[in-house]
Amino acid sequence: MNIKKEHWRAILKIKELFPTLRLINQGLRIKNDVVSISEITSTVEKDAVLIVNNKNTYSIKSNPEVDQNLLKALQLYLPFIWIPLGNKLPVVYLHVAQSLDGKIATNSGHSKWIGNMENRIHSHRIRALVDGVMIGGNTLRNDKPKLNVRHVEGKDSVKIVITSEENNYDSLCTNNNSKIICIGPKNDKLKDPKVTYISVEKNNGVLNPSEILMALKTQGIRSILLEGGKETIKHFLKNNLISMMEFHIAPLLFGSGINAIEFDEIKEVSEAIQLNNPEYYPFGNAIMMRSYLNPKF
Ligand SMILES: NC(=O)c1ccc[n+]([C@@H]2O[C@H](COP(=O)([O-])OP(=O)(O)OC[C@H]3O[C@@H](n4cnc5c(N)ncnc54)[C@H](OP(=O)(O)O)[C@@H]3O)[C@@H](O)[C@H]2O)c1
Repeated sequence: MNIKKEHWRAILKIKELFPTLRLINQGLRIKNDVVSISEITSTVEKDAVLIVNNKNTYSIKSNPEVDQNLLKALQLYLPFIWIPLGNKLPVVYLHVAQSLDGKIATNSGHSKWIGNMENRIHSHRIRALVDGVMIGGNTLRNDKPKLNVRHVEGKDSVKIVITSEENNYDSLCTNNNSKIICIGPKNDKLKDPKVTYISVEKNNGVLNPSEILMALKTQGIRSILLEGGKETIKHFLKNNLISMMEFHIAPLLFGSGINAIEFDEIKEVSEAIQLNNPEYYPFGNAIMMRSYLNPKF
């Protein structure tokens, strides 16, 4: 998805204005990169887009003369900014790059790069819009990711790793200007000065995902991009804590490897998780499917 620079700047501006906007319950008027808070009105000018703030949600008003690329950019990125009011827990968005047969890595843990460059740019945009980007311990150890925003304009979000182990966090410190949070069971031996440790109790080897989110809320985090891997996704999915899922589907067949999604075996198709109203976006030689779930907040 090619998004014009000025449209991306408009999205970043909306993110900046968003809290004020929600406070005064008004709308937004957008004209290319000019974004202003507007009186609530349903009159749409010829070349401007109006975003009407409606308590917990928003609607977009425009007319046919408006640049369709701006509308596409808003459709793609507003859901990461417009967080429902009064959520008890941070909103979790999942984004993975998978092969056509549903794998996010080979069995040896290799995954660079399943998604194409357009996908990497897209995920960096999401990183710039959310408060935190989260991974599991194996992804940190296998991929040594930076998790920063480097392919687009925008600020890094907080980097969150769920782990009970002592890890090397150097990759997360590359050009880093954000906090690194390690979330796991209490362990006084972990003392990396680059990292903020947050403890959550472990029961039967599992850290409760709702408690993880509650602990992150106390750190000021309201929205999280969950990047994987499979084990981490599984716990959030099982507990119905994912609001939106994005699958970048690459034209690759692995035939083996780590599944994007795994949960308890089902016997009949009717038991499958139904993804409602899926949206499809072309991404170069690949396609992205987005769908919203109904998580408990
Ligand atoms: N293609 C993609 O989009 C994509 C994205 C991300 C990752 N990946 C791939 O995914 C692979 C890793 O997947 P994975 O399933 O092996 O591992 P993972 O989900 O990255 O990490 C699993 C680890 O995370 C910790 N963890 C997460 N949730 C937990 C919970 N609720 N309770 C307790 N511990 C929890 C544990 O860490 P400790 O063991 O440290 O205690 C656990 O062993 C990597 O090879 C990576 O390349 C692909």
